[in-house]
Amino acid sequence: MLPQRSRRSAPPMARPVLDPSSLAQFVDPLPIPGVLQSSQLRPSPGNSAVKIPYYRLAMRQFESKVHRDMKPARFWGFDSLLPGPTIESRSGKGILVEWANELPASHFLPIDHNLHGAESDKPEVRTVVHMHGAKTLPDSDGYPEDWYVPGKSAVYYYPNQQDAALLWYHDHALGINRLNVFAGLFGLFVIRDAAEDALNLPRGKYEVPLVLCDRFFDQEGQLYYPVSQYGNFPWVPEVFGNAILVNGKLLPYLEVEPRKYRFRILNAANGRFFHLTFSNGRTFHQIGTDQGLLPAPVMLKQLTLAPAERADLIVDFRDHAGEQFVLTNDSFSPVMQFRVARGKSADTSSLPSSLRPVPKIPESEAVKTRTLTLAEIDNLRGDPAYMLLSNAHWKDPITETPALNSVEIWNLMNVTDDSHPIHLHLVRFQILDRRRFDAFAYQNQGGTLTYRGAPVPPEPNEAGWKDTVRADPSMVTRIIIPFQGYAGRYVWHCHILEHEDNEMMRPYEVVAAR
Ligand code: C2O
Ligand code: CU
Ligand code: CU
Repeated sequence: MLPQRSRRSAPPMARPVLDPSSLAQFVDPLPIPGVLQSSQLRPSPGNSAVKIPYYRLAMRQFESKVHRDMKPARFWGFDSLLPGPTIESRSGKGILVEWANELPASHFLPIDHNLHGAESDKPEVRTVVHMHGAKTLPDSDGYPEDWYVPGKSAVYYYPNQQDAALLWYHDHALGINRLNVFAGLFGLFVIRDAAEDALNLPRGKYEVPLVLCDRFFDQEGQLYYPVSQYGNFPWVPEVFGNAILVNGKLLPYLEVEPRKYRFRILNAANGRFFHLTFSNGRTFHQIGTDQGLLPAPVMLKQLTLAPAERADLIVDFRDHAGEQFVLTNDSFSPVMQFRVARGKSADTSSLPSSLRPVPKIPESEAVKTRTLTLAEIDNLRGDPAYMLLSNAHWKDPITETPALNSVEIWNLMNVTDDSHPIHLHLVRFQILDRRRFDAFAYQNQGGTLTYRGAPVPPEPNEAGWKDTVRADPSMVTRIIIPFQGYAGRYVWHCHILEHEDNEMMRPYEVVAAR
């Protein structure tokens, strides 16, 4: 596993930041995002004889206390909540969501007008909402250029023709996505299905979402987004905040019964990879990944989650009645505390030994293999200036044009020193393998490909359906992708939002067979 690299020149702190270790730990109960109720039914765009739930979610500025001893901080959130309310639906049951921009007219975080799509002739406050992991038509996918300004809204249709999984919604506006998400514009979307119901997993109050993200706060307790040392170029290549929030709270606690729980974890951070362990070393099981259930539970002591990845966990507190323990990141920084009640708890839920078949896609089904580089372009001082996918900018002509219903293999050649979580809209995919190669020779000697090791299969907890994959440095990460669903224009990108906002995102087009 790779440590997170610190940058050559760290951006200076313009304002002194709050040190969370100066705060009392575990004084706030963990909030659980409420489930959004729909107030009306409307005809389905798929079949107007069918009426489906219609939701309205407004993005607004609001204040929230992230810790008992801090002043309320300003955020932007859906329904004035951090995270936004959870939307729930079932596989095959479509929903409509009206995403309304009711934000103020100016931004409170530092826009870099040099970034593509964020030039000074663009309105400061722009949003467009993407449902990460959803199979939707292109006009409901939240294309980064389909942003709109305060006072406007867009109604998107989610057919939910896909398996049970934990998805999430977040802003995707071109050039300021990192700021909008940092401000709080994200929430969960849960799809359930009969296959999952039949497993008798812990449910109701025993199924708990944990949305993790990191932030900086200033001494006044307000959100602080760092800026570079380059004056008019405030963009920074990464943000690793020192304050880790769980469901919008800093260092919360959760009271649990001595029984099994299902935790549905999302890494909603801009750039931080989480490496989660329990302070007492206890093991747990991962039962699902980005796009739903794994074939079988995987026992873990540590969970690595890149930005935008999800993990579905079963943790059994049965043998810990009366104990308290802490979920930590990188084995030392506390994230949250669990307080296990005394006594016994009747637990009729199961942890089945097999969950859902995930048939491996044979490589022979692929009609095309694309070789795509992940590269960082530095400025004269050796600091990152921007990042590119397949050496192309956002505005360059589309180069990835898979045919609808075809299978392709994408070789992600990471020639940078960082791990990049690569996400494709619309589709789910499987990881074939990762293989070390000579990145220097590849970059500087005309694409010479020399391997430096044998192919490594995905980790057992990655061996399911994914929509985001860690592409590690000096590795070729190979994924196999069935392009199913709809034809049209989508995007693929690095989910480190600072990278995505600075050219590490490309359109791609699924082409209908003629
Ligand atoms: Cu999480 Cu392009 O999205
Ligand atoms: Cu997505
Ligand atoms: Cu990246």
